[in-house]
Amino acid sequence: MPTLTEDTQLGGQELKRIVFSEDDVQLRVRELGREITAAYTASDRLLVLGLLKGSFLFMADLVRAIELPLHVDFMVATSYGANKASSGDVRLLYDPGASLKGRAVLLVEDIIDSGNTLTRLIPRLEARGLASLEICALLHKRLTTLEPETRWVGFDAPNEFLVGYGLDYAEDFRHLPYIASL
Ligand code: IMP
Ligand code: MG
Repeated sequence: MPTLTEDTQLGGQELKRIVFSEDDVQLRVRELGREITAAYTASDRLLVLGLLKGSFLFMADLVRAIELPLHVDFMVATSYGANKASSGDVRLLYDPGASLKGRAVLLVEDIIDSGNTLTRLIPRLEARGLASLEICALLHKRLTTLEPETRWVGFDAPNEFLVGYGLDYAEDFRHLPYIASL
């Protein structure tokens, strides 16, 4: 298990503090899994659609906590380069092979910051004739409200730049099992 001190050497950036520990994250993800399990039935044919790359660890843990038959796919939408601020521009680099028509889609996002990414993505998804669309975000900075409302949120996040458990700063820190601030 790496320590905060060792991890601060990564990418030459200082990690300030652990905001959500590995235990906090694992407990909360299991709770979310139980809530999502209760909200759907097997006949919904749930499609859990993760936004890469930030959601990759969250997705891996979350789908294992959902006790329903489900399919997994991913989308790549990008709005950030090696900057800490959103460029406001969202590009779709990968669109799922799976047909979305008639599917109960659970969109999984790592963090909702400005809400730009989802605000632009949601109408595009809804135009594809989904049976339903719900959003599950690991973290929400509560700077904005989305339509539809984010149904499941792991944690309300402080308005700081967070890394770890999938979240990166210029591709560093994604593999950390906890969430820290830079
Ligand atoms: P939004 O479009 O501003 O809501 O931000 C969406 C994306 O920006 C997220 O999916 C993250 O990939 C990235 N992002 C926003 N805030 C943070 C942060 O604090 N740490 C790391 N990535 C972030
Ligand atoms: Mg990112």
